[in-house]
Amino acid sequence: MKKGVRKLVNRYKSLFEPIMIGNMEVKNRIAMAPMTTMTAGLGGTVTQEGIDYYTERARGGTGMIVMDTTFTMEKMTYGGNYYRIDNPEGWIALSDLVDSVHRYDARICIPLTPGPGRNGGAVSPDSASEVEAFGGDGRICHAMTIEEIKEVIESFRQCAATAKMIGFDAIQIHAHGGYLLDQFMSPVWNKRTDQYGGSFENRMRFAVELIDAVRSAVGEGYPIIYRLSINHEVPEGGFRSLADSIDIIKYLEKAGVNALDVDLGCYETMDYIFPTTYMGDAVMLRDAAEAKKAVSIPIINCGNYTPDTALEAIESSMIDIVSLGRGLVADPFFTNKLRLGKPEDVRPCIRCNEYCINRIYSPVKSLSCAVNPQVGHEKRYELVVAKEKKRVAVIGAGPAGLEAARTAAECGHEVTIYEKNDYIGGQAAGAGTQPFKTQIKNLINWFDAQLKKARVTIKYNQEVRHDFPELADYDEIIVAVGANTFTPPILGLNNANVVDVLEAHFNHDLIKGDTIVVCGGGLSGCDMALELAMAGKHVSIIEMLDTLAPNLVPINMITLQKMLKEHHVEVYTKHVVKSISDTGVIVETPNKDTIELKANTVIAAFGTKPNTSEAKAIRTDYMLNSRIIGDCQQVGNIGSAVRSGFYAGSSVM
Ligand SMILES: Cc1cc2nc3c(=O)[nH]c(=O)nc-3n(C[C@H](O)[C@H](O)[C@H](O)COP(=O)(O)O)c2cc1C
Ligand code: SF4
Repeated sequence: MKKGVRKLVNRYKSLFEPIMIGNMEVKNRIAMAPMTTMTAGLGGTVTQEGIDYYTERARGGTGMIVMDTTFTMEKMTYGGNYYRIDNPEGWIALSDLVDSVHRYDARICIPLTPGPGRNGGAVSPDSASEVEAFGGDGRICHAMTIEEIKEVIESFRQCAATAKMIGFDAIQIHAHGGYLLDQFMSPVWNKRTDQYGGSFENRMRFAVELIDAVRSAVGEGYPIIYRLSINHEVPEGGFRSLADSIDIIKYLEKAGVNALDVDLGCYETMDYIFPTTYMGDAVMLRDAAEAKKAVSIPIINCGNYTPDTALEAIESSMIDIVSLGRGLVADPFFTNKLRLGKPEDVRPCIRCNEYCINRIYSPVKSLSCAVNPQVGHEKRYELVVAKEKKRVAVIGAGPAGLEAARTAAECGHEVTIYEKNDYIGGQAAGAGTQPFKTQIKNLINWFDAQLKKARVTIKYNQEVRHDFPELADYDEIIVAVGANTFTPPILGLNNANVVDVLEAHFNHDLIKGDTIVVCGGGLSGCDMALELAMAGKHVSIIEMLDTLAPNLVPINMITLQKMLKEHHVEVYTKHVVKSISDTGVIVETPNKDTIELKANTVIAAFGTKPNTSEAKAIRTDYMLNSRIIGDCQQVGNIGSAVRSGFYAGSSVM
């Protein structure tokens, strides 16, 4: 056969059709959604970490990177490490960023924001009107004066010209999620009586003047993308519905924007802005497809896409560009893996919100990822092949052990995993059986595929104790023996009608009857209750604390609470399980009364405790060449387990 360039063909081909936005060609249909990384340095300048982070996503094949939302005036930022473009001291670094992304034939778009408005934390944040600031703490917004509005518009004009001069390929105007521009567009927040309030045209005036200002700076054809929420997902109280948004997007098209980036939600429905695992795949596609029918410019949309739902969205022409936020945080090479026909290599975002947005909202942390600890440290945590190949034993195939094995193998070591069960994933494998945790199942499948490719040996059904003779053959031992079920001293816990939550995940036949009581309202208890209620059972949760799942990320709790309510799960917080009878659970109420909750099956979900004793025994025997990681060190979540596995596996040398 004649030698030459191999023609790549695979089922993801439609994702690789180029597309025009204004006069810019994007090489494929995958964009990176704007996400604040908190990687900016003093004065909002781009740091090397920021450049490395975006370069990695460009190298991974992304067609268009929409970078951190960037401020055009210092006084509009929330403080902290947010990007700015109005500061000339940052222009060289911005141009380094642009060049570095262009090297991989990706386009780079800068989203300019007029600020958070009522979503911000200022004592009296700017907004369209003197409405209440978000947060329920009684703060009242400052209604921007006309001079202040004009000042913002002028800053956009200047910053748009700067962006084009620096080499950005496109500008996005940030109006999504109930932020400042949205506050002007929506009557629920805009109560003005001047030319910026009242009628539809008046409420759209700020947006249109911003578009005009940007256009005057960048010229015809240069792509301007407008990002907005097309459904606030609040059914009552004058919030925006999809129907209201159709008029808005038609108006924006007439105003000259070249594409629309549409999503859903506002701060009142924050689980739409950062869609949770409970919401499923491609959560905004149906609404985005309605937007596409209404206009002729390209529609960009994000929200829990997977490789296959992205493909469906493009093949069915429901939208034009799939935008990935957390999907590209979790796996910078998402696009190239599909281009090469290797979807099994795409590391899935598990939609936990734990290490990305939850860290951003915490006072000191920057963007990271539960399943990818290299995020934000693309160079510092680069995996390098060790000078000396070692024999590594990993004991336990939960997320910590799997990640330790994967990274040690990538660093060139010969790795064997010992697992006591006949499956990998540990407790996560149980969680992954639930219909709303499919991404956890996909993560375990991803580990499986990666370990096979890296030729890691897995010895199943092999419980390893400290005196296991084979351990002496290894140079390094990584102990990831996980956690054990916590069994409180409660009378009746061994009754035939009691099922451990982890067992219940794997064997639904153990759950008899239609009336179920879940003892323990931590995350695993809540998830099990929801799963059973969704299957039509009558479910109650008993929790001794005054709140369910206190460690769950608040954004995820919004959806979980909604769904528990929707599926009629009865919640008994501040109730204590006293004993279990053949007919149900004896419970102490907050008033110290005793009641019985009838149940055909009782699920024991009292949590877990670290398997410290076995871990310590191995550590004692192999003091100089062992390391304890994951839940057997401290019970945590998938993110903490993966992180400890990464640290251990990548530092074997
Ligand atoms: C850590 C993080 C930061 C975000 N910051 C912004 C932002 O600054 N501006 C914005 O318009 N959207 C922001 N978003 C929302 C994303 O652009 C995107 O709409 C959301 O993550 C849903 O898409 P996904 O399911 O693909 O992640 C952020 C999301 C995350 C996870
Ligand atoms: S922290 Fe969780 S939600 Fe965020 S990108 Fe990583 S896996 Fe996805």
